[in-house]
Amino acid sequence: MDKGANVTHADSNDQALAVLRSGRGADLLMVDVALDIRDLVARLDAERIHVPIVACGVTNDARAAVNAIHAGAKEYIPLPPDPDLIAAVADDSRDMIYRDEAMAMVVKLAQQIAGSEASVMITGESGTGKEVLARFVHSHSARSKKPFITVNCAAIPENLLESELFGHEKGAFTGALARRIGKFEEAKGGTLLLDEISEMDVRLQAKLLRAIQERVIDRVGGNRPVPVDIRIIATSNRNLTEAVREGRFREDLMFRLNVVNLKIPPLHERPSDIGELAEYFTKKYSRANGLPLRPLSTEARRALNINRWPGNVRELENTLHRAVLLSSGAEIGVDGILSPDGARLDQARGTDLAAHAVMAAEQITRNLVGRTVAEVERDLILETLKHCLGNRTRAANILGISIRTLRNKLNEYAADGSPIPPPHGSSELKGAA
Ligand SMILES: Nc1ncnc2c1ncn2[C@@H]1O[C@H](COP(=O)(O)OP(=O)(O)OP(=O)(O)O)[C@@H](O)[C@H]1O
Ligand SMILES: [Mg+2]
Repeated sequence: MDKGANVTHADSNDQALAVLRSGRGADLLMVDVALDIRDLVARLDAERIHVPIVACGVTNDARAAVNAIHAGAKEYIPLPPDPDLIAAVADDSRDMIYRDEAMAMVVKLAQQIAGSEASVMITGESGTGKEVLARFVHSHSARSKKPFITVNCAAIPENLLESELFGHEKGAFTGALARRIGKFEEAKGGTLLLDEISEMDVRLQAKLLRAIQERVIDRVGGNRPVPVDIRIIATSNRNLTEAVREGRFREDLMFRLNVVNLKIPPLHERPSDIGELAEYFTKKYSRANGLPLRPLSTEARRALNINRWPGNVRELENTLHRAVLLSSGAEIGVDGILSPDGARLDQARGTDLAAHAVMAAEQITRNLVGRTVAEVERDLILETLKHCLGNRTRAANILGISIRTLRNKLNEYAADGSPIPPPHGSSELKGAA
């Protein structure tokens, strides 16, 4: 609270949900490990309220921490809580990691349009990084020093969303005990992220359209328009065109919001990102938990690569968080790569492993068309090298090229700014790299 946080206390999961539904957003839920965290996660999920959960408990016992993480908590913090630790979790360094060509193209477009005032529509499946990309656009814009405010249109009941967005005057409705400033005014000079915009009801869409077009809003119960200065970014994991066709979304509003459309591909369509993100999360959670950094074993990497990741980056992140906490040997083995229900990822889907391999192969083929030979060659070389944990000799063998050719290529890529896996040298080929 000394650092400027607002804290609301709730006695139970039910009460916490009621608070969140009421439209009072939260950056973080700190939940006693004694409560049913799994139940809370499931109910938040069902209502599509995305807020990180940090479990807390008086014990410093690793088992309690692991159980909480298994149940869906992002972190475990021992009590009494250390303010710096909470601040670190709440801040959650907003890095955007990518390596795949498909994602690089999206990021490039985002960079190009960040400086403009144009509204941006970000689409992609759940967990693909829409919010991460929205923050990226904001932080690369002239508004970066001003607030970035998020409103989840799906999480807030219809009748409360209007006042959440536009604010209300005292006495505007029963329970409006004081004037309340809405998110449009809170975001003054900055960026407003309208998350899951497709869920907004048509009546409110009309008011939103007016706000965007005329740059003024009306507080609920207010009688004079208030000027607003914000840039709008909207996200949707549904096809808006379809919503328009079904009459659930205004076409004119879609065109207003859709000045630029950033489409984030699902994680399984950007295979090079899987390894890159996996490494990033491994480092992040090792550091956050004060654990030694353990590299992912080759089998663990393979299991990550062939998984379908229906929950996209969010699912990958949770999987690696668990893996980091559960591993104890020299490296993170495939037995630490578990699905949320605790089954081994490589075995849980073992029966259709072959199907996955076929799908992965198809994916690769599909990703080839439209790219130059030089680009594909670079990705093949770098991916193979990563697969070999940086071992040059082994990578050259697999690639069927000489070690000299490989080194020349790597120098070329390094000069172009590509990150090159450092020589690791596996045990049996020590010194060869
Ligand atoms: N490129 C990335 N680099 C690092 N972390 C990422 C990246 N993309 C996503 N994440 C992480 O994955 C999680 C999900 O990302 P985010 O909330 O942006 O997804 P989303 O598309 O908004 O999901 P939803 O549709 O469910 O709201 C977050 O914890 C985020 O930090
Ligand atoms: Mg989101």
